[in-house]
Amino acid sequence: GKGAAMVTAVAYRLTEQARQIQQTLAEFRLSKNQLLEVKKRMKVEIERGLKKDSHKDATVKMLPTFVRSTPDGTENGDFLALDLGGTNFRVLLVKIRSGKRRSVEMHNKIYAIPIEVMQGTGEELFDHIVHCISDFLDYMGMKSARLPLGFTFSFPCHQTSLDAGILVTWTKGFKATDCEGEDVVELLREAIKRKEEFELDVVAIVNDTVGTMMTCAYEEPTCEVGLIAGTGSNACYMEEMKNIEIVPGTEGRMCVNMEWGAFGDNGCLDDIRTTYDQAVDENSLNEGKQRYEKMCSGMYLGEIVRQILIDLTKRGFLFRGQISETLKTRGIFETKFLSQIESDRLALLQVRAILQQLGLDSTCDDSIIVKEVCGTVSRRAAQLCGAGMAAVVDKIRENRGLDHLDVTVGVDGTLYKLHPHFSRIFQQTVKELAPKCDVNFLLSEDGSGKGAALITAVGCRQREELKL
Ligand code: GLC
Repeated sequence: GKGAAMVTAVAYRLTEQARQIQQTLAEFRLSKNQLLEVKKRMKVEIERGLKKDSHKDATVKMLPTFVRSTPDGTENGDFLALDLGGTNFRVLLVKIRSGKRRSVEMHNKIYAIPIEVMQGTGEELFDHIVHCISDFLDYMGMKSARLPLGFTFSFPCHQTSLDAGILVTWTKGFKATDCEGEDVVELLREAIKRKEEFELDVVAIVNDTVGTMMTCAYEEPTCEVGLIAGTGSNACYMEEMKNIEIVPGTEGRMCVNMEWGAFGDNGCLDDIRTTYDQAVDENSLNEGKQRYEKMCSGMYLGEIVRQILIDLTKRGFLFRGQISETLKTRGIFETKFLSQIESDRLALLQVRAILQQLGLDSTCDDSIIVKEVCGTVSRRAAQLCGAGMAAVVDKIRENRGLDHLDVTVGVDGTLYKLHPHFSRIFQQTVKELAPKCDVNFLLSEDGSGKGAALITAVGCRQREELKL
């Protein structure tokens, strides 16, 4: 009768809806062949970045860091470290002791960088940094010490020595004026001078990936790769000097900051980028740039999710077809919320509670869909990141002419550490795509602080040796 027909119609609408949702998410589900293709393309871009003729136009910049060896345990002294560009801005005092009873002791303080300062003038930004250093030195009672300083500055820098780095371009949430094209070590030194309160000896500028690698290498000498899967996404590794064509010399190795976040900026990932990825890019501070990072890192995953949810809502599949003000708000899905939503220990009711907290009224069906969207987006991120890493470890293996490579990767970053599935899927992908490598993953503890201090220690020692 009429009732049965209505039930059939509703059932039909529901399955049709489920089909359309799955069709939308299918674009995010990459096959092994697609991932192998991503690995292959990463390899091509790595070579372009390393070669003198193609370096200038390369998207994956492969920036030399002037770090030529991992630590050997003889590093010693008291150092100041700055950590700018991750989730928090911090100032640290790091005491490293060498000898039989090696130790590293750290004190640190977290400071806020207001958005107006991140996106104001360069002078304001560096004055603010120096203001925080001043507060920290007072707090530690060390204002008169003229300490050596290592500056972890997690942005692409063109280095010509350990203590000179020209900012290529801001990434992530930063956009202070008058910094791009400038040596950020000079900008820091000038700001310290302007303050006229204390002196510091800026010895090294360090990318967070490099700090992470060095910190892990201090404990585990086979660590020759660093990875950050956090607000941003990037990696570094020990490359053969003879392959780094823009640095003179062919002996030994040097750590290269890949800046792989910019992978795809020449269009080479366009076939796998979705309309949602494009929308995230268009809404960002740096349109057209860091396209791989925008598919892989914590700062953008929530934005991809939000774009999909907006679309599904518009099509009437979610939130009763109502796009709330909340859903229109940029940045609502931070890494910590995605991690909670995807946690297997959480019942659907709790997922609804989280959505409620964010200001989204959901039904039980809505929460199932939201959870699936989150899972699909973060799985793709972990797999893409894994494909990039597979290219790196295979490159190291080929450099050394080995059939098999054992290597350790030092890892840091909120996405890697907080998310319930990212690290597992990432590791599994590396294993599948680089079967000739045995990769061991080591979590770094405070890579940006400790690593910067270790590099500063090596820098001080090299300088002493030059004087002799
Ligand atoms: C961005 C930066 C890069 C940094 C990464 C992780 O990609 O450009 O320098 O290593 O974020 O913080």
